[in-house]
Amino acid sequence: MFGKVSKILAVTAVSTMLAVGTAVAAPIVIKFSHVVAENTPKGQAANKFRDLVAERLGDKVVVEVFPSSQLFGDDAVLEAMLLGDVQIAAPSLSKFSRYTKSLQIFDLPFLFKDMAAAEKFQQSDAGQKLLNSMASKGLLGLGYIHNGLKQLSASKPLKVPADAKGLKFRIQASDVLAAQFQALGAVPLKKPFSEVFTLLQTKAIDGQENTWSNIYSQKFFEVQPYITESNHGLIDYLVVTSAEFWNGLPDDIRPVVKKSLDEAIAFGNTVAAQKAEGDKQRIIDSKRSEIIQLTPEERAQWVETMKPVWKEFEAEIGKELIDAAYAANN
Ligand code: LMR
Repeated sequence: MFGKVSKILAVTAVSTMLAVGTAVAAPIVIKFSHVVAENTPKGQAANKFRDLVAERLGDKVVVEVFPSSQLFGDDAVLEAMLLGDVQIAAPSLSKFSRYTKSLQIFDLPFLFKDMAAAEKFQQSDAGQKLLNSMASKGLLGLGYIHNGLKQLSASKPLKVPADAKGLKFRIQASDVLAAQFQALGAVPLKKPFSEVFTLLQTKAIDGQENTWSNIYSQKFFEVQPYITESNHGLIDYLVVTSAEFWNGLPDDIRPVVKKSLDEAIAFGNTVAAQKAEGDKQRIIDSKRSEIIQLTPEERAQWVETMKPVWKEFEAEIGKELIDAAYAANN
């Protein structure tokens, strides 16, 4: 009789263990999709986030990183996020205009004189408020990651705005950037990041604008003989998630995920600062592209030609916000 009871107890114990085992064994999966190479500020921030979460949350949460547009390009990632097919992404701030007009502020040419000014504005009350500018659309901003200031690359030397006239430039999907190139008398073409190298190589386009890190990691410098150090705009990122996913995370997990993300962002930002200088030097050393430095007079011409774009978008972005961002330069 004892044999029978102990058999029943043993079976019960095993099924309980199995039941408990099953409950513990299903980790929350966070797919993090981005379009750049792993060895970039954003790529490294994403990998750091994955590693910190693995360290802190063990098998409760798994972050899977998909670099280089392997999962989604930036044209599709936000829609996919709202459908629950991806949980975190970090598109450049230029790629949100279907969801909010306020973030267009970051595309205004010559808005920030350096990355310190961009950082100051992003961390200000006005900058932090922008993280919630898509809440009504179901998207939440979790923080900003830096990349850097943009340079102009082309198949011919660009010293003054008139040099860009009639040339075709690839741009990110942003109406502000379209207006910026139209102000030069150039032809802007909105194309996905993953296509830029081939478009340049086949000469379907004449030029593009991007950071030193992207020009280097995507090898644009190998197919663009001239790069003008214009520092005329910004490429930074908004780390974004869906409100449904974020609010659905267990209360003891969410703060640990957020803390890991904040630390990963801080790490990515140190990488961004190093890459801006390091990748520029690597391009110079390659001797594939000539780097053109602008005189103060030449630079003033670019500012004068591009800056009217501010007025064009003032109503959509808000004058107060523009003033707040510009004030970060002081
Ligand atoms: C671009 O499309 O040029 C950039 O937004 C890519 C990136 O994520 O840095």
